[in-house]
This record gives sequence, structure tokens and C-alpha cells, in this order.
Amino acid sequence: MFSFLKKKKENSKEVSKKEVKTEDFTNIEIIAEYFKSETGITFEKQKSILKNKLTTFCRIRDIYSFTELFDAIKRDNDTKQELIDYLTTNETFFYREFKQIQELVDLVKKSNGKVNILCAPSATGEEPYSITIALLEAGVSPSNFSILGIDINAEALLQAKTAIYRERNIRNLTDTVVHKYFIEDEKYYILKPVVKSQVTYKLANLFDSSFKSLGKFDFVFSRNMLIYFDAQTKIKAKNILESMRKDIRQDVFFGHADLF
Ligand SMILES: C[S@@+](CC[C@H](N)C(=O)[O-])C[C@H]1O[C@@H](n2cnc3c(N)ncnc32)[C@H](O)[C@@H]1O
Repeated sequence: MFSFLKKKKENSKEVSKKEVKTEDFTNIEIIAEYFKSETGITFEKQKSILKNKLTTFCRIRDIYSFTELFDAIKRDNDTKQELIDYLTTNETFFYREFKQIQELVDLVKKSNGKVNILCAPSATGEEPYSITIALLEAGVSPSNFSILGIDINAEALLQAKTAIYRERNIRNLTDTVVHKYFIEDEKYYILKPVVKSQVTYKLANLFDSSFKSLGKFDFVFSRNMLIYFDAQTKIKAKNILESMRKDIRQDVFFGHADLF
């Protein structure tokens, strides 16, 4: 046979091979279980939401089944991080559950010397920055406190470091506070360095063995993360967070919805 004809035949074989690759988005358990074991987050009551989200995630990447996705996230850390960023919920806003922040301010004012505060999780930064603003407003010197914000979501941390917000994020702040700590640029609110410089961020997973090497803290905030865990995982998370305190008499600040 003429070689060009042979090539054509082979090419058409390849095309038809591609065409027969069919989707199989049924084995959702394999991803749900792996995701829970890695992050603690359960989708037990939201299986159909998870299935829809995962199917979209796969199709964008030319992945044809959840088994193939499972292999990809185990093999490739970038795909795993993309999946974590995609499936975690980062909803937060300034001065959320402000009463607790006020409690913290009172405790910091009573402490002697510099205190360090852990915000686990910080999501896009509104919580650690809220604490900073509240402390500065209460007259606490910037040299007397530092905050570490951690989160498992890399995109959220990028946003936290950029610290540019929209109206809905700052809805609980008074105009006076907004004018004092933000530069307004059309529909954006750019946080000033005086607040930003008090907070550092780190990508971290609460359940990683390296988590405890972050050190010990005078105050630990962990609000609205445990709501994504089942009862057993909540207890595990609570124990880890409590072990991060310098003083065991100081309670961890959990969110009201994180109830045990
Ligand atoms: C709803 S936000 C809470 C943000 C803030 N603390 C608040 O209350 O407004 C929940 C955050 O928990 C993070 N998260 C979930 N599982 C995590 C884990 N295992 N380790 C660290 N962060 C986690 C998510 O990425 C998300 O940004």
C-alpha cells in the first residue's frame, strides 16, 4: 500500500480510538473518601453537588472518569491543590461574629508583652485583618501582636496577601473604619500596609503531621471550618487546635456554628 494511504488509515484509527473513550462519572466514593481523609471535609450529605462539581472539574481537564481523576490527584500535586481550591468554601467577611473579636481584644489588652495569634483557617484574610483592625482601634501597639493565618486553599491565601476587597466583604465596617484602613478605588477597597503588615500567611493543612511545627500561640482562632467535618473529625480537629495553645486555660475561639 502507498505509505500516505497507510498513514491516513492509521490516523483515522487514532481518531476513532479517541472517540470511543466514554465518560464514567459514577464511582464518586473514591474521590469523596480520599478528599475526606486528606482534608477532613465530608460531602456525605451533598453527594449530588459533589458529583456535579467533580464532573465539571474533570471535563475541563479532559479527564474521563473519577478513577482517572483519583490517579491524577495522587500523581500530581498541582492537580490535587487545584481540586482542594475548587472544593473548599472560603466564605468570610470583615467583623464576622464580632463579639468574639472584642473578647480577644480585651484579653490582649490585659496581657503583658507581645502576643501571637493563630487564625486557622484564615481563608481570604478578612478574619486576621479584622482582628488587626480591632486591636489597632483599641490602641494596642502594632509591636505588641502578630498574626499567622493558615489555610488549605492556595487561591484564598493569594487573595489574602493581595488584600483587595469588595463592598460585600466590608459590609459590617463603619465608614470611619473603612476610610482609616482602606484606600477606595472605584468598587475596590485596598487594605493599607499598617494592617497588612501585622499578618503573615502559610499554606497548611490542619491534619498534616507538620501542622504542629507552626508552634504555640497565645490565642487560637478557628471559626467556621469544623462545620465541614463530621463528628469524629471535629473532635480530632479540636484536639489538634487545642494543642497549639501556650496556655491550656485559654479556650480556642471556635465559631458558633462549629458546635460539638
Ligand atoms: C468558611 S471559611 C472560614 C474563614 C474564617 N475563619 C471565617 O470564619 O470567616 C473555611 C476555610 O477552612 C479551610 N479549610 C478546610 N479544611 C481545612 C484543613 N483541613 N486545613 C486548613 N484549612 C482548611 C477552607 O479552605 C476555607 O477557607
